[in-house]
Amino acid sequence: MIGVFDSGFGGLSILKDLRRVLPEYDFVYLGDNARAPYGSRTFETIFRYTLQAVRELFSRGCPLVILACNTASAKALRSIQQDILPYEFPDRRVLGIVRPTAEEIGKFSRGGHIGVLGTAGTVSSGSYLIEIGHFFPELKVTQHACPMWVPIVENGERGTEGARFFVKKDVDALMASDPQIDAVLLACTHYPLLESEIRAALPPQVRLVFQGDIVAAKTIDYLKRHPEMDARLSKGGKTAYLTSDTAEFFEKGAFLFGIEGISAESVAL
Ligand code: DGL
Repeated sequence: MIGVFDSGFGGLSILKDLRRVLPEYDFVYLGDNARAPYGSRTFETIFRYTLQAVRELFSRGCPLVILACNTASAKALRSIQQDILPYEFPDRRVLGIVRPTAEEIGKFSRGGHIGVLGTAGTVSSGSYLIEIGHFFPELKVTQHACPMWVPIVENGERGTEGARFFVKKDVDALMASDPQIDAVLLACTHYPLLESEIRAALPPQVRLVFQGDIVAAKTIDYLKRHPEMDARLSKGGKTAYLTSDTAEFFEKGAFLFGIEGISAESVAL
């Protein structure tokens, strides 16, 4: 199975695209809903929580885990890849979503001005500035942290006046920093769930960039380049859902994101 991890419900936006392009593969989704949001937590805490989640997914038989969470990708991935995998799990792989996104982002802007919206953790890590700088040094990248957006999503407040207020406030702040921005990357997997509020706040000529399509295409590419990994992945077209909160909480929340009729399992991380 392919493990897909997020701090909460946000990674479902990535899982949806993974399932669309890899319908025959089996997936296990793990949301650390009981401890979300991760966005404002310290490096140490995000690393510890993410590693616990990765261990859980490994113990369920996943040879490959995708961190469908920018905060975890920005803050925990490198340490897991360098300090844990070679010693404890040399035959397993953990992939993130920051680098694959950075590799593609240049295609979305005509004028070379990109906006990046993410959690406080992702923005302060500087990961996008560094990674985009590797692949597209000519791009002007402006970041802005939106600390209210994940709690809005996790608490089912999408579509409310409060959601519109906070989304507009942050979008306006980003655009004020660089009015020439012509493409905005949603660098948090929760943010696509606020798409209508974001579109309403953005000038119409600005393009929105979603990570789901990018990550899905990059995963296909990864599996083509790693047939030995591909051969280890089961292909029954099934998806299992795990959560660190109660199964009822997850099932109800997933329903709000268009995933119906699932039965989740509660796990202690
Ligand atoms: N959805 C996650 C991300 O992509 C993290 C949200 C959070 O827990 O703060 O950054």
